[in-house]
Amino acid sequence: MDATTKTQTTPEQKRRFVNYKIRDTFNLPEAAEAAVIPGFAEGLPGVPQIDPLYVFEMDRLRQFTMFWVGGFRALMIEGDPSAGKTSFIAQIHARLNVPLHKVPCTPKTDSYQLVGQMLPTEDGRLHWVDGPVVRACRDGTSVMLDEYNVLDPGEATGLNMLLEGYSWTIPETGEVITPAPSTRFFVTQNAVDSLIHVAGRNEQDTANDDRFSYMQVDFLSADLEKDLIVRHLVAGGVEADKAKPIAHICVEVATEVRKAFREGADPNIDKPISTRAALRWAKYTVMYNPILRSKGRSGLHFAIQQALRMRAPMAGAVNQQITLKAGYDENLVTATT
Ligand SMILES: Nc1ncnc2c1ncn2[C@@H]1O[C@H](COP(=O)(O)OP(=O)(O)O)[C@@H](O)[C@H]1O
Ligand SMILES: [Mg+2]
Repeated sequence: MDATTKTQTTPEQKRRFVNYKIRDTFNLPEAAEAAVIPGFAEGLPGVPQIDPLYVFEMDRLRQFTMFWVGGFRALMIEGDPSAGKTSFIAQIHARLNVPLHKVPCTPKTDSYQLVGQMLPTEDGRLHWVDGPVVRACRDGTSVMLDEYNVLDPGEATGLNMLLEGYSWTIPETGEVITPAPSTRFFVTQNAVDSLIHVAGRNEQDTANDDRFSYMQVDFLSADLEKDLIVRHLVAGGVEADKAKPIAHICVEVATEVRKAFREGADPNIDKPISTRAALRWAKYTVMYNPILRSKGRSGLHFAIQQALRMRAPMAGAVNQQITLKAGYDENLVTATT
């Protein structure tokens, strides 16, 4: 072995457990100094990219830590569309350097797309290729089935053995797969009983549901979301005095839209406004304000059209909300109501 190969880290070495300080890793000053959570050493393939915008909330992270250090295997995350289900799991994995195999589920997702299949080799023979679930079981990494409740309930049931940590025999090869102890399964879904029009959700059978720990994810609190937007505007060179009122209105409108969507209060509102979209809206507002103000038009009202695709009825309803929260309409005329 030469000097270079000696210093290279093998996948086995990288899959070395490392304890990460919760306070520093998740930027949570309120976390206890001594609190740690295990992950892997840096450098494994399949680790999600860090989103520097991402904000962790203490309560949510505590729930996750209990699940993770408690040695539980499967976690179901429910919440409204764009509340932050997928990004929560992905960003924790990014910080802990744990590979996450993500599978977007559709009603047509078949078990071979989850566990694996026989594929032809160049010389015409068939050989087994691991799917994301089996790969995670071998490596002791994580797999996330996104939009789990659109999956055909029959396909979901096939995963039961693995979810509980039992061995499972690949029928095609006879190989016995036993999930490594650190293997974890995450499924995200929009709640079936929410008022949202999320068509085509299945109720997974009770036996399958029973295998999951459960967590509900909601949008960031208004204060944290405003802070996040202000920080980003300020980082982009905007004065805090100018950034704050814009962040305030964007988050207030987003909060109203989410509420209307969830409660089914306004049939025109057909989706919520995500944190990411609210941030984009604030950034565009800052850019448009100077140009439009001189023409007697509102940057806020204009910018949202570029920040977020909305159908005409929703755009109209949101426009009204902006006027209400800003106190002026798209022509900067002071609102009378
Ligand atoms: N806590 C957060 N901090 C920063 N951005 C967030 C946060 N939660 C959600 N987002 C952003 O909102 C958008 C929607 O989140 P996502 O996780 O895809 O929602 P879901 O899976 O619930 O539909 C993403 O762009 C995500 O980065
Ligand atoms: Mg998602």
